[in-house]
This record gives sequence, structure tokens and C-alpha cells, in this order.
Amino acid sequence: MKKIIFIGPPGSGKGTQAKRLASRFEIPHISTGDMLREAVNDGTELGREAAPIMASGGLVPDDLMVGIVKDRLAKKDAQSGFILDGFPRTLVQAEKLDAIVGNGTEGVRVLQLLVPDEAIVKRIALRRSCAQCGAIYHLENNPPANGSVCDRCGAEVVARADDNETAVRTRLEAFHRQTLPVATFYKSKSVLREVDGVGPVDEVFERIEKSLT
Ligand code: AP5
Repeated sequence: MKKIIFIGPPGSGKGTQAKRLASRFEIPHISTGDMLREAVNDGTELGREAAPIMASGGLVPDDLMVGIVKDRLAKKDAQSGFILDGFPRTLVQAEKLDAIVGNGTEGVRVLQLLVPDEAIVKRIALRRSCAQCGAIYHLENNPPANGSVCDRCGAEVVARADDNETAVRTRLEAFHRQTLPVATFYKSKSVLREVDGVGPVDEVFERIEKSLT
């Protein structure tokens, strides 16, 4: 059973690579950012609580995040493997995840994408995402074929609300302060693989595949 976790700063390519890996292994891609954005769009209680926190670039409280991930991992499609993207992001979340999956870190692989902050700012400034299916584009590297229309589902392709300079700075700070200790936690358990996230998407994907062998 494949239990894969992506860790990396905002804009490091977690979503881009996790989607590809999920279709390669035919296991679900579970992105907490996508789940929260869906809750915001649907106007649920979770969405109303998360919206201002996400807009500022801060982290949604651990108890809320652990609850939604626990429910998601209990679904049938996650019983033969999963790819987590954006969770765990704090040491509390990492410890709770150990308890949720039962066997601690047994069989877990954690992929840490390494991308310098300067490259991240450029990637995020030109990122566009499909408002409906979540497909990820980049206006220079991977633009949609027809202007602002998603290649896959035809919905509108837009910039994310938290992709502004102030929120990106806060997200980077949160990553360095709260999420890097999570990488150290997994390193101490010998399940962390560091992957150079700079270069063409296909090359990064090849490095990821190699790191999983
Ligand atoms: P989330 O959605 O997880 O955002 P993030 O971690 O900031 O990561 P991003 O989605 O911005 O980037 P990515 O690494 O997926 O990069 P992408 O593939 O899109 O979380 C959003 C918010 O939700 C958080 O700030 C927080 O408030 C909340 N939240 C979520 N999970 C939480 C949790 N567990 N606890 C608490 N709060 C939580 O790529 C970026 C761009 O670069 C794209 O345009 C892409 O086309 C391009 N690109 C990708 N790869 C390459 C490459 N190799 N070369 C050039 N360009 C590339």
C-alpha cells in the first residue's frame, strides 16, 4: 500500500506532481488546500472559518485539519493507498496522522520538494487554476491552450485569492516556521526523501519516481 506525503513550500509543485503520481499509481490525491477551497466555494461552516485564514496565508487550526483528513482517509478509495498534499503541515498534524494510519510511519514515504524562495515567487505570480476541476497552469510554462479556459473541463481558469504578495510572504513564513520541523520529524524516522524541485515538470517527476524505488 502506497502512503505518500508531499511536503514543500507554497508553489513548489506539490499539486502538479501529486496529481501525476496519483494517476500513475491509481490512488487518490488528497489535497487539503483543494478541500478547503471547495468548502469555501460551497459556503460550509468549515469554509466560513477557513476563508479569512487562507486569504491571509496563515494555517487553519490543527483540530479542524486533522478532522477532515481523518474522515477523508476513512473513505473506501483511500484503503489501498493515498497521496497527501499539504498535510501534515505542523508537528501536531504529523503526530495525529501517525495515529490515524495506525502503523505510525510504516510504509510511508515523504517527498520534500526543494525549491528556492525566489523561484517560488515567480511560479506563484503566473499560476492559474481551474475554478472547477482544480487543474493547475502557469502562464509561461504551461498555459491553457485557449486563453483563460480550462483544457480539461472548459471552466474558467483564475488566479488564486491567496496568490498575492502579502499572503505568499506569510505562507512562506508558515512553511519555514511550522512545516520544516515536520520534514525533520520524518527524516528522523528515515522516511524522508529530498527531491530537487527545480527544472522541467517531467524531470522533477522522474526524480520523484526514482526516489520512490
Ligand atoms: P495549499 O493549497 O496546500 O497551498 P500551498 O502549500 O501554499 O501550495 P500551493 O498550492 O500554493 O503550491 P504547490 O506546491 O501545490 O504548487 P503547484 O503545483 O500549484 O494551501 C492553501 C492554504 O490552505 C494554506 O495557506 C492554509 O491556509 C490552508 N491549509 C491547507 N492545508 C493545511 C493544513 N494541513 N493545515 C493548516 N492549513 C492548511 O505549482 C505552482 C506553480 O508553479 C503552477 O503555476 C505550476 O504550473 C508551476 N510549476 C509547477 N512545477 C513547476 C516546475 N517544475 N517548473 C516551473 N513551474 C512549475
